[in-house]
Amino acid sequence: MSAINYADKIPNNVNLSEDRKLQRALESWQPHYIDWWREMGPEGTSTSEVYLRTAISAEPDGWAQFGHVKMEDYRWGIFLAPPEKDRKVNFGAHKGEAAWQDVPGEYRSMLRRLITVQGDTEPASVEQQRLLGQCCPSLYDLRNLFQVNVEEGRHLWAMVYLLHAYFGRDGREEAEEMLSRRSGDADKPRILGAFNEKTADWLAFFMFTFITDRDGKYQLCALAESGFDPLSRSCRFMLTEEAHHMFVGESGVGRIIERACQVMTENRTEDVRKFGVIDLPTIQRYLNFHYSVTSDLYGAEVSTNAATSYNMGLKGRFEETKIGDDHQLEHTSYSVLHPVGGGFQSVEVPALNALNERLRLDWAEDVAKGVERWNKIIAKHGIDFRLALPHLAFNRAIGHFSDIAVDPQGKVISTEEFARRRDEWLPSQADLAYVLSLMGGAVHKPGQFANWIAPPPRGINNQAVDFEYVRFA
Ligand SMILES: [Fe+2]
Ligand SMILES: [Fe+2]
Repeated sequence: MSAINYADKIPNNVNLSEDRKLQRALESWQPHYIDWWREMGPEGTSTSEVYLRTAISAEPDGWAQFGHVKMEDYRWGIFLAPPEKDRKVNFGAHKGEAAWQDVPGEYRSMLRRLITVQGDTEPASVEQQRLLGQCCPSLYDLRNLFQVNVEEGRHLWAMVYLLHAYFGRDGREEAEEMLSRRSGDADKPRILGAFNEKTADWLAFFMFTFITDRDGKYQLCALAESGFDPLSRSCRFMLTEEAHHMFVGESGVGRIIERACQVMTENRTEDVRKFGVIDLPTIQRYLNFHYSVTSDLYGAEVSTNAATSYNMGLKGRFEETKIGDDHQLEHTSYSVLHPVGGGFQSVEVPALNALNERLRLDWAEDVAKGVERWNKIIAKHGIDFRLALPHLAFNRAIGHFSDIAVDPQGKVISTEEFARRRDEWLPSQADLAYVLSLMGGAVHKPGQFANWIAPPPRGINNQAVDFEYVRFA
């Protein structure tokens, strides 16, 4: 069951060859995917060989194999985590029933929407990151970028498989649409806001993988609880890959902080830009931006949509089965922060309606822990500066904070004041231009790193830091 058949055109552990119709449908989608990858995937990589991990089994021990491969020859496939024996629907109105191996007819459109929205984020991030290779700070980082890119491509495959296998013609149409939307396009944008933002430099890339891929983790965890078993199993395997993406982000920002601190102490100054590194206040502004934009991905704080998909048993809470309650939430409340007058007030709302907010707060707590690990780097250098997450209401475009202006500390201010002081809190044009100015040519010599980032303490898969992670033809 779990061995992946690499002889097939599409590597898979779902016995694809036994379903000729599905196999043909996916094989006819495959060349469209490759066209999309050539057009919108990482720029200028067709001949280089990259030290990538490829999934070779869905078993927790030893699921991946490392080796140099040409990006275009990467084997994107369909891998589901092993089935859980006698799995049940663990929450909502159907709690206790056997998990569904097929889509319950009446939940079809809701489920298709959930899968489409998740699927759309995967190619979107590849598009956002497609030019970054041209200014990579090292071969090690270039390899990590490409690893994230190919795996986001595989995550698209995971969702497209579900659409093709379970949603008939509607599903096939959604799968085509996945390849026709474009991140940031005025006419055919990606579905969610944060996936239409630019990722123009490596600080933005690392913040994105630290913060926005972590939203991916929480969304996947909620979908991994689904009563629709194929979705659950797809998401569980995707989560195995996702951990590395967040590692890339957290360690990447950490190394930029480390370098800033080195230059600050060596030169006894906070004015590090003249030494060609990124100052801590700029890092804080990037953090504020990515955190607030990603917060919006969870949707409105109070939402009947979230209640519906929970009730239906389609999307659960983070670690649903570890929570000690009735998993139906009909008689439970949850306190949600509301804007009231010139401030905020916690208001008890039915727990079912607060599921978006709950998932957002689970994510926020996880982000905050990472920020504390960054603060330890700063403290280790004896520097008196702390990074902090902005207030949840800061710079929001979705939900009930979207029509108030709030400073990062959570003080409600006028929109005029926000506009006037915006550049204190969010990356200014000058910040973006400065960071971009550091992204000169790509660093392609093994073991060499751009001036603005510290080397990592160790390499990938026990290889040395100066290993040739990417070979150019
Ligand atoms: Fe992903
Ligand atoms: Fe990811």
